[in-house]
Formats: sequence, C-alpha cells, structure tokens
Amino acid sequence: APLDLAHPLASGATAEAPLIRAARGERSERLPIWFMRQAGRSLPEYRRVREGVSMLDSCLRPELAAEITLQPVRRHGVDGAVFFSDIVVPLKLAGEQVEIVPGRGPVFATPIRTSAEAHDFAARVRDRIAPELFAPISEAVALTVAELGSTPLIGFAGAPFTVAAYIVEGGPSKDHLRARALMRADPEAWHAVAGAIAELSGAFLEAQVRAGASIVQLFDSWAGSLSVEQYRRSVGPSSAAALERVRSLRTPGGERVRTIHFGVGTAELLRDLHAVGADVQGVDDRIPLDEASRRLGGEVPLQGNIDPAALGAGQSLLEQHALDVVRRGFSAPAHIVNLGHGVPPETDPDVLTGLVAFVHGLDGRTPPE
Ligand code: CP3
Repeated sequence: APLDLAHPLASGATAEAPLIRAARGERSERLPIWFMRQAGRSLPEYRRVREGVSMLDSCLRPELAAEITLQPVRRHGVDGAVFFSDIVVPLKLAGEQVEIVPGRGPVFATPIRTSAEAHDFAARVRDRIAPELFAPISEAVALTVAELGSTPLIGFAGAPFTVAAYIVEGGPSKDHLRARALMRADPEAWHAVAGAIAELSGAFLEAQVRAGASIVQLFDSWAGSLSVEQYRRSVGPSSAAALERVRSLRTPGGERVRTIHFGVGTAELLRDLHAVGADVQGVDDRIPLDEASRRLGGEVPLQGNIDPAALGAGQSLLEQHALDVVRRGFSAPAHIVNLGHGVPPETDPDVLTGLVAFVHGLDGRTPPE
C-alpha cells in the first residue's frame, strides 16, 4: 500500500527540504547538515531525561524517544532529526536477550555460533516479525514528526553484517572474527542469520517510514573489516534486501522514499556499498570526498565527512576543515554535510551549534573559493 496522505513527504511538509532534495541529487541554497549520534551523550538535556532509565527502556518509551530525537534539532538547528533508537532495538522487540552496557555497547546473553544456533535464531526471529512488533516505534515516530514540521525525520536500522557482528560475538569486538569465521565455515548458517536480520531490519525501517520518517539510513558501521569479495558474496545481498523494503515504498503521488548507506573504513568498498541500492553514499573521514566521488563515477550524492576529531581542534581549524570538506563535496551532484562517524560523547555542544551556523552561512550552489 502507498504511504498515508498525511505522511510528511506526501503532505509536502518535507518533500522540498534541503536534505531530501540532496538525496534526490539536487542542490539547494542551503547545504543540509546533521550529525550521526547527534541525539545523545554530548547534550546535558539528554543526560537529564535519561537519568535512571536504561538505554533500551528509553528507546521503548515513545514520549522519551521523541523528546530525545527533538533535542538536537531545537539546540543546533540541524536539517534532519535522526530517530533516537538503536540497531539492536528490533531484536529486543523480537524477544532476544540483549542489553546495552554503558561504555561498552550491545551485549547478547546467548551468542549465536553453531549451525544449530544460527538456524534456531533465524526461525525464531522470522516467526516473531509482525507489524504490531513495532508499535512503540511507530508511536514515537508519530509524536516526533508532529513536532518537526518541515524538518525531515531520518529513520535507520543496522545492516545485517553489523548487527550479526554483535550477535555472533555476543558483544562488541574489534575485528568481528567470529562473525567472519562463521561466514567462511558455514555459509548456509551465516545466510540464515543475515537473512533473518535483513527481514527484521527491513521491517523496522518500513515501520519508521510508514509512521512518518522521510528518509532512512542503513548503518553497516563495521563493513570495513570485510574484503570486497566477502562483502559481495556474503553481505551485500542481505543489505540490499533490507533497503528494498523502503525503496519499494511510494507516496500516493508516486514519490519514492530515499535511502542513505554508511560504513566506517569503507574506502575500498564504496562501489560495492553503493551497488546494494541506496541513493546517498555515506563516506567516513579517511577518504576525501572528491576521491570518493571519483570512485562512484561522479554521479552519487554523498554524505559526510568532517573528521570527528576536528570538533576538538578549535573553531578556526574546524571551520577550515569543514570548508575543505564542502569544497570537495562539490565534485558530487549533491552533498549532505555530516561527520565521518558519530559525535564523540565528550564534544562541547556549542561547537556543533557553531558548525551548523558556519555551514548554513555557505552558498549551497557554488563551491567556496
Ligand atoms: O543520534 C543518533 O545517531 C540516533 C541514535 C543512535 C543510537 N545508536 C543511540 C545510542 C543510532 C543511529 C545508533 C546506531 C548504532 N548503535 C550503531 C551504528 C552507528 C555507529 O555508531 O556506527 C551501532 C554500531 C550501535 C551499537 C551501539 N549502541 C554502540 C556501539 C553503543 C555505544 C556504547 C557506549 O556506551 O559507548 C550503543 C549505545 C548507544 N546508542 C548510545 C546512544 C545514544 C549511548 C547510550 C548512553 O547514553 O549511554
């Protein structure tokens, strides 16, 4: 079924927002900017409302999730609100035993390692996928977009490899060795796990879009630990399946919902990441945007890639660096300004507010001198 007539892309609220235009490959007067991990620990108002509430509980309380999503928009004037949630929230909703341990990340009570465990996991997760599963998410999204007006809400999900890297390891890891070993040792078990996560993440994305998100980002944060061969064979197809859930959605007027794809350390994988079918390619800070654009044939809108470390280098160096990023971004058809990865928790929020104002002061249609 098409999206609701009242959906922000259909009603006209967000269809011409600079962020959405950029995802269609169009430039605007204003360069759109938002930050990965803008909703979170760098904000005192976030720490205040989170007091005494665990990370996953706060994601499942609609009023709280909506409030946290809106905080950085109010404070910084960013061009997109990224939905406050986490890549493991769908698994929590599907009944898996997962926690987010502060300072560490997602931890699963029972890692999925053997072939039997993998097939059990896949069957159990597929069994539980139903639209009602995402009720608290849909409610939080609806509350958020009611307040956002013309600022688009960015929905997101974890890509199957990045989510599986936590499930197979049982928690955060540096090289995702167990997940990559399973991929080699037992491709069938691996595909069962990745396929089930693709379905779950795809359903999570679709729920966010139906409730009012105007664009989505698929995070394959840890894809940089894969070879091109492995990515193509064992990872890309399940990411494509998750994205397809959104790519097939239309407004009643026939407008497609755009998608962004992102991974860290993926300079060598950019073409393959793009090939799974997202409109915008996210780029981390290890490769200049003009080189990233060249690798993509100069035809793909880019998102990125201010070095998060530059946030701590002082205003003048930060602005010089941001200007360089914007200048290089003109080698792509359109550019969504962002960091190369998430906002570090210790970032001074005033630095982010200043950076947004600086980028908004630039001309979105003409490269800076
Ligand atoms: O502001 C936003 O970007 C929206 C919210 C968001 C969160 N997690 C909230 C969160 C998003 C988009 C994510 C995605 C996510 N979660 C990714 C992909 C993006 C990336 O950073 O590469 C990954 C790998 C995760 C898994 C995860 N969740 C990690 C590694 C951590 C950090 C653990 C820690 O404490 O250092 C989390 C927890 C988490 N997710 C926090 C937030 C705000 C911190 C929770 C807190 O406040 O204690």
